[in-house]
Amino acid sequence: MKVLVIGGGGREHALVWKLTQSPKTDQIYCAPGNAGTSEIATNISFSDNDIPGLLSFAKENSVGLTVVGPEVPLVDGIVDEFEAAGLRIFGPNAKAAILEGSKIFTKELLAKYKIPTADYHRFSKAAIAKNYLSTNTTYPIVIKADGLAAGKGVLIISTPEEAEAGIREIMEDRVFGDAGSEIIIEEFLTGPELSMLCFVDTHTVVPMVSAKDYKRIGEGDTGLNTGGMGAISPNPLYDQKLENYCLENIIEPSLEGMRQEGRPFKGILYCGIMLTEDGPKVLEYNVRFGDPETQVILPRLETDLLDIFEAIIDDHLNELDVQWSSDSAATIVLASGGYPESYPKGLSITGLEQVVSSTVFHAGTKIDDKDVVTSGGRVLTVTSKAATVGEALRISYANAQKIEFQGKTLRTDIGS
Ligand code: AMP
Ligand code: GLY
Repeated sequence: MKVLVIGGGGREHALVWKLTQSPKTDQIYCAPGNAGTSEIATNISFSDNDIPGLLSFAKENSVGLTVVGPEVPLVDGIVDEFEAAGLRIFGPNAKAAILEGSKIFTKELLAKYKIPTADYHRFSKAAIAKNYLSTNTTYPIVIKADGLAAGKGVLIISTPEEAEAGIREIMEDRVFGDAGSEIIIEEFLTGPELSMLCFVDTHTVVPMVSAKDYKRIGEGDTGLNTGGMGAISPNPLYDQKLENYCLENIIEPSLEGMRQEGRPFKGILYCGIMLTEDGPKVLEYNVRFGDPETQVILPRLETDLLDIFEAIIDDHLNELDVQWSSDSAATIVLASGGYPESYPKGLSITGLEQVVSSTVFHAGTKIDDKDVVTSGGRVLTVTSKAATVGEALRISYANAQKIEFQGKTLRTDIGS
């Protein structure tokens, strides 16, 4: 089968890598891909949001299955358009992808179906939001843009001045465009975080092995939020009891709520959870694999990923016995100097050929006249699998040292 993977980050390199292991794939395309995917697949130069271009490519090249990595095309309805054209595609349709596309939709769903989450208020006018906050005396609080903002639309606010500035930037200056036409102001929760990813078809949920993402740029979880600076699997706080609790109290009632709302979900459901003193609470839903969580989850998957995608599309996930390795995995992100703010691009990367016992999933890289150069904020993710998380980390850190580019930035405390 010919398979098209949409996206160009570390997550998509890991998806392509896993799909190449399936005996059923004979050609894999990646749009737009990166230097890493170009070694194991054929990159095609469509942006991941170019739905008409991707649709024509899939038709003309007899693509048997399309797999969507990022959220934007899902929220924009790529699944609906491919299905209307009679093409097979993996992911939620637009009606279901709203779980990530609108934080207000999700908060209202969670409230209606009594699923634990932070208390919130929604606002469509900046003046009313500011007025509400002028009577607020407890900080920190959390302000979130309703729509998609590439992971940057969540502000943790500590002072009235920051609140005023945050509302101005999101609702008046529209730094996230229309994503900021409405906001929510939410109770600040504390506790360790858990990323719980599940395979979901119309009737069945199969949780994946757990992961922990390290979101802040700085050591000791300090500084700005990023897409993720590293991940480990399993999450040390996760056990069968917690999995059962989250399935029964969060995941299953959310999916039942979506069915009742006429928005049945299928694809990958990623639930960001905070383990508060009052129990696990939902921070957010994503409707796709996490990045860099995918880079530690897929290396542990023993079942053919193509079979899982096909089973979900055909609604017989219940017939598959999804198997995982008992090994642990760790990934270290090598980022550009300056990330998550501005950073240079086009810098040469050396040492990749010296890596042993790790898999380097490329994120922001491209080939420039035969050289691999940086082309994004998160550049590479160095992934290892071993009997323990500690051993996987040791191998990844040893290999991360061999790779060089100007400004290379990494956290040395992933896993701690
Ligand atoms: P989100 O994109 O909604 O996952 O938010 C990004 C990050 O912001 C989360 O991983 C949390 O670290 C933090 N966050 C989001 N909502 C809250 C909240 N209500 N209280 C505390 N931290 C939060
Ligand atoms: N690593 C967080 C995300 O993929 O949203």
